[in-house]
Amino acid sequence: MAPEKAVGAVAAAALSLALLTYFVGGFNRKHADREYREAVRKGRAKRGVIDAIGNTPLIRIDSLSEATGCEILAKCEFLNPGGSVKDRVAVKIIEEALESGKLVQGGVVTEGSAGSTAISLATVAPAYGCKCHVVIPDDAAIEKSQIIEALGATVERVRPVSITHRDHFVNIARRRAAEATELAARESSTRSSHVNSKVQNLELPSVFPSDCKGGFFADQFENLANFRAHYEGTGPEIWEQTGGKLHAFVAAAGTGGTVAGVSKFLQEQNPNIKCFLIDPPGSGLFNKVTRGVMYTREEAEGRRLKNPFDTVTEGIGINRMTNNFLMAKLDGAFKGSDMEAVEMSRFLLKNDGLFIGSSSAMNCVGAVQVAQLLGPGHTIVTILCDNGIRHLSKFHNLQYLAEHGLTPTATGLEFMGIS
Ligand SMILES: Cc1ncc(COP(=O)(O)O)c(C=O)c1O
Repeated sequence: MAPEKAVGAVAAAALSLALLTYFVGGFNRKHADREYREAVRKGRAKRGVIDAIGNTPLIRIDSLSEATGCEILAKCEFLNPGGSVKDRVAVKIIEEALESGKLVQGGVVTEGSAGSTAISLATVAPAYGCKCHVVIPDDAAIEKSQIIEALGATVERVRPVSITHRDHFVNIARRRAAEATELAARESSTRSSHVNSKVQNLELPSVFPSDCKGGFFADQFENLANFRAHYEGTGPEIWEQTGGKLHAFVAAAGTGGTVAGVSKFLQEQNPNIKCFLIDPPGSGLFNKVTRGVMYTREEAEGRRLKNPFDTVTEGIGINRMTNNFLMAKLDGAFKGSDMEAVEMSRFLLKNDGLFIGSSSAMNCVGAVQVAQLLGPGHTIVTILCDNGIRHLSKFHNLQYLAEHGLTPTATGLEFMGIS
């Protein structure tokens, strides 16, 4: 065969093979896609990380149920892909922002968060084609900012100051979103007026790349998307998983989104369901719920020079009213101590194999207090917000606890007055 004919034959064969591979591949892809859609329809498969959020298991905590004579049930929010209850909030905040046009693909979501919400935003933002920038107080557990950076978000660690200070981490996060939006506006006007963008960029120092498509401040404390995540998600799931047969719900509050969304939903289904707050040391919410006053003079944020809270628990306790907390329907409040939270975490680890974070432990302290108030025979639901891995440098660090006089010593539930 002439060389040019041989080359032609090889090219034709290669083309046929490529077409065959393409069509067979296409068939396989279509087939796989059909199989996948069928699996989704039958509830066996989920589409992407977003669909894997929520619908967490509700488990019975055997040790606490047996000790109190109540059914103590806990929603395993630590099983969300981003590791906490805040995944639901991150999804809702981003989806509502995209729907309203306040956030666009390629934009950056900013947040001032001591950890969990930031991790959740960093986890889900890429699934929406967005970026994430987080401002975090520098006394928060170091593993949290390491995780956020590993997820591809940018992190600013700042000195903890009062919320009234312009450089409080929440205020810086709000500012960063405005900067990103201004940067995007300048870039777009620069492009349309053909001005040298490098020169313009110098006028606005920014932590964001010049191709950023604007910023959106997640604002988990005031943004009611947070409340709606629980009102439309966590609350209805608890109602369904208990068959509506529960007597009480209890949780601590950081932003107040969880306790507000769940309490409002449950009380709308059945006004007899009692909803309670459990409040850590240094928080003013207990006073607000039980006495109508937000805080004592010495607790007022803005008066404290450094960290406004005196607790080892993270993510819970606050000394100001938030839009989210205002939505809560509460029948009462309890106080929990750091020692009780530490002891509870060790008790649940030993007896139930539950390795939980500090706010989850405080919630379980609350569940036992509700059981003691209502007496045996009641079903009480609480939240396991995140797991212990997030807390290795503080709450689950014996040396750190010893330095703060919090070495656990209990053999049972004696710290809750149960022998
Ligand atoms: C670990 C953890 N648990 C509990 C909470 C409190 O939840 P909420 O903000 O819904 O009151 C937070 C809030 O940041 C948190 O990070």
